[in-house]
Amino acid sequence: MTVDAIPPSAALFPAEFDPYQISQSEFSALGDKTYLDVASRAPLARSVRGAIDRYVAMRSVGGDKDAMFETAERVREKVSRLIGATAEEIAYTKNVSEGLGIVATSLGLGRGDEVVFCPEAEHPNNIYLWLHLQKSTGIKLTAVPAKDGCVDAEAIVEAIGPDTRLVTVSYQTTKFRTDAPSHAFRLT
Ligand SMILES: Cc1ncc(COP(=O)(O)O)c(C=O)c1O
Repeated sequence: MTVDAIPPSAALFPAEFDPYQISQSEFSALGDKTYLDVASRAPLARSVRGAIDRYVAMRSVGGDKDAMFETAERVREKVSRLIGATAEEIAYTKNVSEGLGIVATSLGLGRGDEVVFCPEAEHPNNIYLWLHLQKSTGIKLTAVPAKDGCVDAEAIVEAIGPDTRLVTVSYQTTKFRTDAPSHAFRLT
């Protein structure tokens, strides 16, 4: 197998972002079924499979480091457009838990610094991490109650005070679908 033998996959985010069209072209194996994402295991998109195949093929013949960096930067730029950020604000982590750990340990949080969260509606990894930090550094944890089993965005915003250094809320977890309204967290 050579790199050229593998056809390029469809663009990840076409200019006209059409979720239905993407679900048809990227997840054709689903046919007429409706897939409900639970932020856990999921069918692999055709373009993802193609990218993995091309990467493995490239690595099996040595690997083009410049091409790898170029791909990483291109993806960073595409993801930033998807979520309304800048490419410089996108960091790669191996998984959610590692990302949380990096944030938690890189902010230099200490005694009296407040972290606001909603443990009732959180994934355990976004709870134990902060409990550990509370024990080891003396940060203050403010647990905001959930509302109807979901994150209460208004209550979270109200809980923010002068000592708050971080608000941590999952948009979606494997256990709960909170669908926290992201606009509620665009604070000025
Ligand atoms: C807050 C949080 N941490 C951790 C996880 C686990 O995911 P991962 O295996 O990517 O760390 C999830 C999954 O939904 C999550 O929502």
